[in-house]
Amino acid sequence: ALVVRRRIQSVVRWARAVEIVKELEERCATPIGLLKQVANAMAMEMQAGLASEGDSKLKMLISYVDNLPSGDEKGLFYALDLGGTNFRVLRVQLGGKERHVVKQESTEVSIPQHLMVGSSAELFEFIAAELSKFVASEGDDFHLSVGSQREIGFTFSFPVKQSSIASGTLVKWTKGFSIDEMVGKDVVVELTKAIEKQGLDMRVAALVNDTVGTLAGGRYYDKDVAVAVILGTGTNAAYVEHAREIPKWNGLLPKSGDMVINMEWGNFWSAHLPITEYDQDLDLESLNPGEQIFEKLISGMYLGEIVRRVLLKLAEETYLFGDTVPSKLRTPFILRTPEMSAMHHDATSDLRIVGSKLNNILGITDTSLKTRKLVVKTCDIIAKRGARLAAAGVAGVLKKQGRDTAGGGKQRTVVAMDGGLFEHYTIFSKSLDSTLRELLGEASPSVVIKLANDGSGIGAALLGASHSQYKEEVYA
Ligand code: GLC
Repeated sequence: ALVVRRRIQSVVRWARAVEIVKELEERCATPIGLLKQVANAMAMEMQAGLASEGDSKLKMLISYVDNLPSGDEKGLFYALDLGGTNFRVLRVQLGGKERHVVKQESTEVSIPQHLMVGSSAELFEFIAAELSKFVASEGDDFHLSVGSQREIGFTFSFPVKQSSIASGTLVKWTKGFSIDEMVGKDVVVELTKAIEKQGLDMRVAALVNDTVGTLAGGRYYDKDVAVAVILGTGTNAAYVEHAREIPKWNGLLPKSGDMVINMEWGNFWSAHLPITEYDQDLDLESLNPGEQIFEKLISGMYLGEIVRRVLLKLAEETYLFGDTVPSKLRTPFILRTPEMSAMHHDATSDLRIVGSKLNNILGITDTSLKTRKLVVKTCDIIAKRGARLAAAGVAGVLKKQGRDTAGGGKQRTVVAMDGGLFEHYTIFSKSLDSTLRELLGEASPSVVIKLANDGSGIGAALLGASHSQYKEEVYA
């Protein structure tokens, strides 16, 4: 009788597990009609954010970049990139129109976790120290064409309200950074203090968001780049707007007539977004509850964490992974998106990789094949929801630009994409691409998605060059 009871119990539990995943799938559904509503909402919020300060979830930050690289940029420039899990430094010798990038070198260090939530002085001193080491290794292939001061394009990938191309205050932290005293402070002033403390003779010539850097880097190689999207730890987009369509801009109209806008679309919200109980709990327990909701559905920092939350629910309610819930499964952020991706892409017939990841990362031993399949299904639901929403976001931007219809002449539009999520999570990027095609319909052939690998670093260096203090001398 006991054996029979156990058998029945396990059938009931399995049925409940399947039901939980089915419910998840329903709540995460993103039919094309819903995506169109999301795209429309995105385009409308863009308008609202351009009209006035604080009227929209979209900050639509003015970048002060009114000219994208021409290709004439010349000289030695440095770029600093802060904003993901890694911090990067790069130097590039720009050779002007004919020679473009003559030589480039870079280095990457991961940011110790304690610096992300410590003091701003500590964080910037760490950055300046790394910069200093890197500058010391500069060889003879690199040389300044004028003056003696090295210049930097600083990519700082957080919302910054700029007051010029090389100054701006931090609006808020995102992506797991949280240093309260820094909010409201000028990012360039802080970096400059740390640089001087190192005894380095360097100057920040441009302060840019990674999306803006990617747009600039993309444009250097392809003049049709009009939008840049980052899908990495966080997600965001920048695009070229007509300056006269920015009511809140009260400066002079730039000669080009254009202004690059950093949308900060990670903070987008719409009633159409398919949000589940798992998302709500993740948000409530995050460092920034109520904020960056779009980002929390899409980006690399969160996808694995959402999956972990679903697996935890399965463990608690259906004993899917045994009679006791493995303690690791209760640890927030222990399942990183690259590991989720590895499980999702597992092509072995017995889902061996899924089995070993579950074991090594979450302490889940001995899973059956059907259980592993259910885990893959969970990854699929979460990844595709994110990818499809990102596609709707892109469609919204193209709509705002009037580049979403086949009627708009024969213009070609390139969307430059960067970020580890887009680059490495193939199922995600494929789903994004096919969804965007579906959303664009007839206009699809005129829109090209391009991976702009590290466009942001080169882009920041280029913007540093075009805002160099020596510019007049170089181009005279
Ligand atoms: C977050 C930041 C944003 C950045 C994006 C991608 O959304 O707020 O500034 O562009 O991540 O790195």
